[in-house]
This record gives sequence, structure tokens and C-alpha cells, in this order.
Amino acid sequence: MKITLLAKPAFVLLFLTVSHLSVAQQTGRYDAIHSGVPWFDDKGNTVSAHGANIIKDNGRYYLFGEAHTDTSNAFVGFNCYSSADLYNWKFESVALPVQQDGRLGPNRVGERPKVMKCPKTGEYVMYMHSDDLGYKDQAVGYATSSTITGPYTFQGPLLFNGQPIRRWDMGSFQDKDGSGYILIHGGFIYKLSDDYKSITEMVHGSFASGFESPALFRKDSIYYFLGSHLTSWERNDNDYYTATSLKGPWTKQGLFAPEGTLTWNSQTSFVLPIEGAEGTTYMFMGDRWAFPKQASAATYVWQPLTVSGHSLSIPTYHDAWQINTVTGVATPKIISGNTIRHTDKKQIKYSGNWKQSAEAEGITTSRSDGKGDSFSVKFKGTQIGMYGLAGPDGGYARILLHDSKGKTLYTSIVDMYSKYPVSSLKFICPVLPKGNYTLTVSVMGERGNWSDKRKSDYGSTGNFVTLDKLIINN
Ligand code: GLA
Repeated sequence: MKITLLAKPAFVLLFLTVSHLSVAQQTGRYDAIHSGVPWFDDKGNTVSAHGANIIKDNGRYYLFGEAHTDTSNAFVGFNCYSSADLYNWKFESVALPVQQDGRLGPNRVGERPKVMKCPKTGEYVMYMHSDDLGYKDQAVGYATSSTITGPYTFQGPLLFNGQPIRRWDMGSFQDKDGSGYILIHGGFIYKLSDDYKSITEMVHGSFASGFESPALFRKDSIYYFLGSHLTSWERNDNDYYTATSLKGPWTKQGLFAPEGTLTWNSQTSFVLPIEGAEGTTYMFMGDRWAFPKQASAATYVWQPLTVSGHSLSIPTYHDAWQINTVTGVATPKIISGNTIRHTDKKQIKYSGNWKQSAEAEGITTSRSDGKGDSFSVKFKGTQIGMYGLAGPDGGYARILLHDSKGKTLYTSIVDMYSKYPVSSLKFICPVLPKGNYTLTVSVMGERGNWSDKRKSDYGSTGNFVTLDKLIINN
């Protein structure tokens, strides 16, 4: 039975209020892909699109992902953004809003939306994991639209032999011949019918217990299947498998990021082939979750993959890199400019109980866990980047960027948590018109932690915010 439910205007209104509190029309532009930092869309709001996928349509990239709030995991819709360069994202729509009731109604879970265009019908079809808040009513659902940005009409569960697929993490894959596939945690691969609205065949059964957040791509005659282990939103070292046929045999190849980096602190979501005149860059898209502040503080880890034969890797983490969408060529970007060390008390005004500390990795920081403690820096230039040391006791920091008239240009929350200590870029603003600006960072006295459906506890043990250095671009 198909369930077609449209959201009541009241729900749409509620959602817009929660996730699109406009700060200011964005005046800046990004010139690179930055991982692990909040991104601001064309309206100056944080891009909220997790468990995402991207499809290219009419020369433009469309990003679909989970919208979130900072308070609960209840489904608040799937967002759609578009971009020409993969750096600057325009908010397009709530592609699938909360439904009046049913599988994606109020107080339900909706995760990992994946959109594909059906070659036979020309329709856009969105697949997702639908569930209850306790993760005990899972099913793969689907929604359809004649336009890419939607709104999509929720059609109910995707059926295989007349039955819903009662599993959770899912992904999608479109092969070169236009065939569509649904991927499921554990390594299941299902083939879609010609109209993409049902399953015709289980192409491969489970090959790996665990293996959540499945993503699959193809280069020449080799298929690569990536996924995480079962640690909820906590990061782990993700694995990959390869095969020359979707039917297998699938061979476990191991990790694709260096062991212990926990997939550079992220969980797999999708791999986007960026095809250009000179080659193809395969872009890994991962989530750095930050429960409960998933709307503000969860970030994206997008990195170019090195693909060679059956080997797949992200050997180095790039805080910033550039992709030429015409040529398909990726280049690392060094974030350079005037460096202000955390010890520079002439330029950085500290308020509260900040202590200098010798940290892991041989670096020093200024750190505080006192709620309301803050530091600010006034600068003249076009862009500011902030490096901090994330660690097991890291908490949330509130970031504010003002112009010389005191107008707030950007506001955001940054998560300083990592299971292991690591210094990396924690905030960078878009490139702004040259001017006088003030960056203020304050300790929120809160941290990310949560229990999963198996009652395991995860997250930070402290509320620390740390500053390593600031880099200002003139
Ligand atoms: C895993 C899944 C996510 C989400 C969380 C909830 O991380 O990959 O999609 O379901 O668990 O704990």
C-alpha cells in the first residue's frame, strides 16, 4: 500500500523556524573544500545535510542530506542545496518535509537520504532509512519528484517480494548502464526495478556483520564498497571491499584511512566521482557527527580518494583542497597568511581562566572549560581560520564573527571533541571583502555525549575549548 502524505503547512513553518534562523545574507565566498568546520550557505546559515549524497544534474551539483536540530534526533526533513563548484552551497529546499503522520511523521527518525534520477521515467527518486526514535521500526522508504529540488512525495516503504526491507543504514549506487542499487548495512546489495520503485533482486547477501553507512562506487571494472563499524555516531576505522562484479566475490581490503585516525574522524556517507576533461576525482564524503548539536556542530569530511587497482586510500588529511570541476583535477590548498599564536596576548584578548598547556603532538594551546570564558581577536583582512586541539575532553565553543559595525556575519558552534588528540582547522569563514572584523570564541560549558540503542555510552568527558593558532588572510 502506498502512503502519500503531504506535510501540513504548520510543520513546514516549524521546521523553517528551527533550522533557518537567518543571520545575514552571505557576502563571502569559499575558494576550497574545508573539512571539519561549519559551512555557511548563501543565506549565512550552517549547511545541514548529513548522511548525504550528491548528484549532478544539468551541470550543477545537488546535495541532499539530513536536516537536524541541536536538541533531538527526531526527523525534521531532508535538505537540498546546490552548487556549481562544490564549495559554495545555495539552500534550495526542504526536499522532503516532516509528514503529517506515518513513517516519517512527527517524532520519527529519517536518515541517509539518497537521490538518483531514474533513466527510464526521468523521475527523481529519494531513498532513506525510516525508523522510530528507539530504532526498532526500521524500513527503507522512498519518495519521488518530477523536479530535482522537490518537494518529494513520500511513497512509503520500498518493497522486495511485497515486503519492506526492514533494515537501517542504507546507501545507493547507479551503475554505468543506468541500473540502480540499494545498499544496506552488512553488505547487502539490492537491484532496483526499471522504474526505481521496487526491488527485483538481492544481488548480494551479507558479507560483513556491522558495516554501517554503506557507500559504493565504480572505477573502470572495479567496484569499491566502503562502510563503518557499529559505534553509533562515534567514529571508527572504516573498511572497504572490492569486487569486479556486484555479485561478488567481495574481498576485504581493510582500512582506507591510516589506522587510529578513525577515518580522519568521520563516518562514510557517499563517494562522488567528479568527472572532468582531464580525469576523475573520487571524493569521499563522510560525517563528523556531534550529537546532540548535530545542526550546528556536526561537520563534513570530504577528501579526495587515491584509487589504484584494488587499493583505495586517503593517505593525508587536507584541511582544505580545491577541485576543478571542469578538469576533474584536485589540488591541496595550504591555508596561509599571518599566523597569530595563542600566546600573543597583544592581539588576542582573553577573558576568564585560560591556561597554557603542553599538549600531545608537541604543540601548546590555551585552554579553558569555564562556561562563558572567551577570547576575541580584531583583524583586518579577508578571512580568518582557527586551529584548535580536539581531544577526549573537548566541548562546544560558540563562534561569532562581527564586522566593524558590530553586525553578526556568522555564528556557529564548534565541537572540540575527538577520541584522540588532534590539532586541526576548527573554523574558517568564507573569503570576505577586505575589512575590519572581530572573531569571538566562547566556552559553552557543554559537550557532546549520548547513549546508543545498545545502551553504550559515547562522547566527551569534558567541556574544554582550546586555541592553537589563528591564521589571517590579507
Ligand atoms: C550510526 C548510523 C547513523 C545513525 C546512528 C544512530 O552512526 O550510521 O545513520 O543511525 O548510528 O546511533
